[in-house]
Order: sequence, then structure tokens, then C-alpha cells
Amino acid sequence: MTSIGIHDLAVATTHHVLDLAELAEATGVEPAKYHRGLGQEQMSFPAPDEDIVTMGASAAAPLLAEHGTDGIRSLLFATESGVDQSKAAGVFAHHLLGLPSTVRTVEFKQACYGGAAALQTALGIVARNPEERVLVIASDVARYELDGPAAPTQGAGAVAMLVSADPALLAIEPHSGVHTADIDDFWRPNDTTTPLVDGALSLQTYLDALLGSWGDLQAHGGPGVDEIDRFLYHQPFTKMARKAHAALFRHEDRPVDESALETSFLYNRQLGNSYTASLFVGLAALLDHDDDLAGRRLGLFSYGSGSVGEFLTGIVQSGYRERRRREATESVLAARVPLTVEEYRALHVSYTDDSDERETPRTTAAPFRFAGVRDRIRRYERTA
Ligand code: HMG
Repeated sequence: MTSIGIHDLAVATTHHVLDLAELAEATGVEPAKYHRGLGQEQMSFPAPDEDIVTMGASAAAPLLAEHGTDGIRSLLFATESGVDQSKAAGVFAHHLLGLPSTVRTVEFKQACYGGAAALQTALGIVARNPEERVLVIASDVARYELDGPAAPTQGAGAVAMLVSADPALLAIEPHSGVHTADIDDFWRPNDTTTPLVDGALSLQTYLDALLGSWGDLQAHGGPGVDEIDRFLYHQPFTKMARKAHAALFRHEDRPVDESALETSFLYNRQLGNSYTASLFVGLAALLDHDDDLAGRRLGLFSYGSGSVGEFLTGIVQSGYRERRRREATESVLAARVPLTVEEYRALHVSYTDDSDERETPRTTAAPFRFAGVRDRIRRYERTA
């Protein structure tokens, strides 16, 4: 049977970054709470002319430049920070990327789980017709209430993945474990720009979904813990992945070995939470920095509050080292322009601006920008 999975993957983020040591100092918190307690160093923050569309298109552009558009008939855009209640953010990205009209475009939503849901759907489309390729974009801006307890777990980022038969990076295996439970741990009513969160409940329901989906994977003949070489978890903050790994290994009566986890934190520690993209940013970091992955099995756990969890597994392909994009990802992270805490606060407040007519200042150095709103219509443009 043909293998299907992730052929190529690219990461994009925002123009700005806030150092959490500065946020800690400004709010009278010990920096160690953010650095060690949450496992976070920095968080990406969008300029006024950036959003999920510009980040998503920026992540996808290098994939299309390299592989062309032949065979792509679907663009699946996962996000929980949608810019419109009706129109899919992917339709804006479709235009910016110059995709043919013969590409269907749709938005996926179930909190942070949307990225894994889009990936699963892409696998199904390619299984039906292995000549098709699917462009999956997961893009989010994680913004919580200013100065609330969740503020240090904000962030932003996007991942674009080309899903195809005979993938060069990761062949996803057919069995997965899923877990859905109607829980109010994190949600965002239609009239709010920041989510409501029950932090303590969200930590517990994440772990419940992990063990629930793991149990389902086992019930469907999936691999056991000893047959998985590296574990990747959704990273709302990197410490959460440590908690998840410990819970899974305790459940399986195994000593907890965290050694390989750290590699998957390298980008998320600097990006913060990127919701739908977060798990795949962790995958990018692992592939980019671990040279001993060929033929190895990865376990990937996606969690979306509300809640849905899924545990997937995949086999890293032998040529993955030639396909990875470490330099590009490191340079977008290094190029971010630091914000002072005052600038961050001002930008945070400005995001509630929903006026019918506005022009955004030209700030981003990314290939696409959000130009503002005219006649209540969002306008996007290329920067070059
Ligand atoms: P909090 O109340 O600020 O933090 O909220 P805390 O007091 O629980 O401390 C956090 C950790 O720092 C603790 O570590 C402390 O001990 C430690 P732990 O005991 O848990 O291992 N700590 C220190 N460490 C070193 N030096 C110190 C120090 N002080 C304290 N001086 C919370 C934390 C995560 C709840 C909050 O930030 C929050 O609500 N975040 C948003 C919700 C979230 O991220 N939940 C995660 C699971 S749900 C999920 O992943 C889905 C999500 O991505 C959304 C979606 O699906 O769409 C969020």
C-alpha cells in the first residue's frame, strides 16, 4: 500500500517578539516561573498588518515555490482565530498564493485540534486519489486577556504542510486514537476577541484526552510505548508536553525518559502557543535538529480544548534530512523585532479595533500583509 503523509513543512511567524523576562519584570513575577515553570522564553506577537492569513500564506509560499501547484486540489486552513464568521481564511490565502480556481478551500475549527483534523482529512483525500496533493495550513494568533494568568502563554505562528503519497518527511500510519468530550475548559464566544479559560481544568482535560486517545489507539492495534521512538505533544507551553509525557509513561508503568522531548521544544519555546500549528512546529523542530530519525516512529498527540484529542503515529522517511528547513525557520525567529512591554500592551489593545474603515500601518517584512478594512471588507496585499 502507498504511504501517505507530510512531504514538506514550513513555519512562519510574526514580525514582533516579546521577551518573557521583560513581561515578568513588568508584572512583578519571577522570570523563573515563565522560564522553568511554563518552559517558555519568548512569545511572537503580530504587527498590525499581520494575521492568520498573512502568516499562513507566508508559510505556504516556499512550499509552492519548490513543488509547484500540480495535483493540488484542496487547501485546508485550520485556525481558531478566524477573521470572518463565514468566509474561510484560506480563500484569502488562496488568492495571495495565486492558486488555481480548481483548488477547493475550506476552514477547519476545533480549537488547537483543527490542524490535526485538517491533516487527517488531507490523508483521506490522497488515499482516495494518490495523484492529488493537499495543502494544509494551520495558523493562529493566541491572545489572552491582557495581564491575565494566561498572558505568558500567548504566541503566534503558522505551519504549511504539503500532504502527498510517498512523502519525503513523515508517513502517517493508518491507526490513530481519538477522544471527544464536551468540556468547558477554554472557549471563545462570538462577541469576544480573547478566550475564556479555566486553566486548571484545561490541564486536566488535556491529560484526560491524552490517555483517552492513547487507550483508543491501543484498542485499534496501534503501537505500544516501547515501539515509539520519539513523542511529540501539543505545546500550549512546553512544560505541558513534559506533564503529558510523564502522565503517559506513568500510565504505562514505565520510567519517564524526557531526553528526546527537549528537541521538540526548540521553536515553541520562542514562539509561544500557536494553537493549531503548535504540534507541527514541534515536529519541525524535531526533524530539523535530530539527525537520527530515519525509519523511526514518532507519536504525535494533538489536543484541542472543548475538547478533542488525537494520538497519531508516523514513520520518518529516509530522505528527511534533505527536505528540512532549519535555516529558514531559524532566520524568521531571529528576524523578529523585539517589543517593549509598553509597545506590546498598546498593540494588544489595538487588536480590539473592529472599525469598518481602517488602514494598517506598513510594518511587516513578510511577503504578505493585511492592508486594512474598506467597505467592511478585509484587504490583503503582497509586500513585494
Ligand atoms: P498560573 O496560575 O499562572 O501558573 O497558570 P501556576 O501558578 O500553576 O504556575 C505554573 C507553573 O510554574 C507551576 O508548575 C509552578 O509550580 C511553576 P507545575 O507545578 O504546574 O509544574 N512556578 C515556578 N517555577 C519556577 N520558579 C518559580 C515559579 N513559580 C511558579 N518562581 C496556566 C498557568 C497554564 C493555567 C495559565 O497560564 C493558563 O491558563 N494558560 C492558558 C491555558 C492553557 O494553556 N492550558 C493548557 C492545556 S489546554 C490546551 O493545551 C489547549 C489550548 O492550547 C487552547 C486550544 O486548544 O485551543 C490552551
